[in-house]
Amino acid sequence: MPALPHARDAVRALRASKIREVANAAMGAPDVLAFWFGEPDEATPEFIRRAAVAALERGDTFYTHNLGIPELRDTLAAYVSRLHRPVTRERIAVTSAGVSALMLATEALVGAGDRVVEVTPLWPNLVEQPKILGASVTCVPLGFGPAGWALDLDRLLDALTPATRAVYINSPNNPTGWTIDRESQRAILDHCREHGIWIVADDAYERLFFAGAPGAAVPAPSFLDIAEPDDRILSTNTFSKSWLMTGWRLGWIVAPAALVPDLGVLIEYNTSCAPGFVQRAGVVAVRDGEPVIAHTVERFRAARDFLVARLAAIPGIDVVAPPGAMYLFFRVRGVADSLEFAKRLVVEAKLGLAPGIAFGPEGEGFLRWCFAASEERLAEGAARLERFLTQNPL
Ligand SMILES: Cc1ncc(COP(=O)(O)O)c(C=O)c1O
Repeated sequence: MPALPHARDAVRALRASKIREVANAAMGAPDVLAFWFGEPDEATPEFIRRAAVAALERGDTFYTHNLGIPELRDTLAAYVSRLHRPVTRERIAVTSAGVSALMLATEALVGAGDRVVEVTPLWPNLVEQPKILGASVTCVPLGFGPAGWALDLDRLLDALTPATRAVYINSPNNPTGWTIDRESQRAILDHCREHGIWIVADDAYERLFFAGAPGAAVPAPSFLDIAEPDDRILSTNTFSKSWLMTGWRLGWIVAPAALVPDLGVLIEYNTSCAPGFVQRAGVVAVRDGEPVIAHTVERFRAARDFLVARLAAIPGIDVVAPPGAMYLFFRVRGVADSLEFAKRLVVEAKLGLAPGIAFGPEGEGFLRWCFAASEERLAEGAARLERFLTQNPL
């Protein structure tokens, strides 16, 4: 028998999504209350949708420049300059969403045999992408304590040996909500400058940050606040979370200007460009979307506080309100196999949560709950969890 046709070993070794495994266990049952995927629960605001429709009606159906239309690059440069430090259009590459921005950053920096370091638990895409290119990934785990998730900075700096090509930091972090502080950023930047290590900062959730005064929509601390233009930093970002645009597939990278032409070449060979009419909607989102962000932050802050209060009242659950992102990553004492537990929850309690193990071994014993949902749904979900734990003591 000839061998069956297969993909490369590096591809076959990639982890399949354990969230999907739980979703599959539910077999599409209509009465499941699902909080397993990371997606806001509201459709994109109408003024953004209208901009795309208008562009389509004008016949905006062609390829664009690899790096994006000038209007969007300028609008993003102004936005990043307002939030962080001044950047010019030459430092911006428009991408087909955050996941593609991360893959492009990885393709630009990382090759076979390279070593990258990542702070985990972490959204699996970031951990698996370097492996597609043959790199090895070393994980530095966050710790969980009464004050929530925390980074052992010395442990991270020790892991950042001179032989390290890049460090990936997602802050606010999916799944834990952990958000890096300025002091740690400075220490990491100094260390990486000294050893020529690249920083890939996944800033997807920078606007979903709850530490600021209500209504202020203050962004989370970013490496872009302290970096010089030629520092080895790639900041990846997305329209998905800030402007409720997950399905549009639009994002961007802020890079040193010298690297941006190379990103343009990589974009040519990946997607060639983000769709033009989507980019047109992106211009309007960034230009006029601040009230959307302010509203979303307040809504999610309230949802977070509501759910934390509900879960904290259930015996056996350890939960701390996270400073950013849109997830609670909480421990259920006595759960040794979060995948098995999440499958039981969905089948027996009709409650869909993501198993902590999906985000790395450090996540075992935890569950991720996306709180971007109405209080009514969150309350019903918490009631289902409480009932299940009462009927099935661990
Ligand atoms: C940590 C993190 N980075 C990046 C993304 C990218 O999202 P998108 O590809 O929709 O832009 C996500 C989406 O869930 C995420 O959780």
